[in-house]
Amino acid sequence: MAAYRPRPNPLDDLDSILVTEEEIKARLKELGAELNEAYEGRDLAVIAIINGAIIFVADLIRELNLSLQLDCVRVSSYRDETRPVQEPEIIDKIRLDLEGKDVLIIDDILDTGNTLNRVCEIFTAMKPASLKTCVLLDKKATRSVEFEADFVGFHIPDEFVVGYGLDFAERYRHLPCIGVLKTELQNPPEWT
Ligand code: IMP
Ligand code: MG
Repeated sequence: MAAYRPRPNPLDDLDSILVTEEEIKARLKELGAELNEAYEGRDLAVIAIINGAIIFVADLIRELNLSLQLDCVRVSSYRDETRPVQEPEIIDKIRLDLEGKDVLIIDDILDTGNTLNRVCEIFTAMKPASLKTCVLLDKKATRSVEFEADFVGFHIPDEFVVGYGLDFAERYRHLPCIGVLKTELQNPPEWT
């Protein structure tokens, strides 16, 4: 089967831009201010869910004037249509001791809610003093479990988006904006 042929400009693979680079930068300043106020005087443990949260977390924590520790976790994917839906699980063990800590979990996007719901269950068992969540994007219309994030960058409609950390087949994470991937590129046979 033919392999995916990279195009010179991945921005050409977008149907439209939902959030521009400038809008992201401005919103990150606001989110940073919200977090600085919420966690003033505390020692924060930031847990990034990778790979998706990489770019968002890297930019967001540089807006924080707080004492903090950063660690990352990888969550197993349950989006495999060839097998029954499985509960998301944390693949890497966290190295920080979260007992008694103020923990902020950061992900790229809140969609069905399954990932953050499960990750919060796992971290709650580690007895943190507080546990909150922050997402860059919230697709509220697609929730399958009841879950709301404490801090949200942007509310977006039910579209498949890429860029600024979000991927399709590990591509497009490096785009500085967030855009809707062209429908014909969302499942091209030559990608599999
Ligand atoms: P949830 O468990 O359904 O809330 O999904 C969260 C994960 O699904 C995110 O961390 C993303 O990896 C992925 N995801 C959901 N929607 C999108 C999208 O529009 N573009 C890229 N990834 C997405
Ligand atoms: Mg992800």
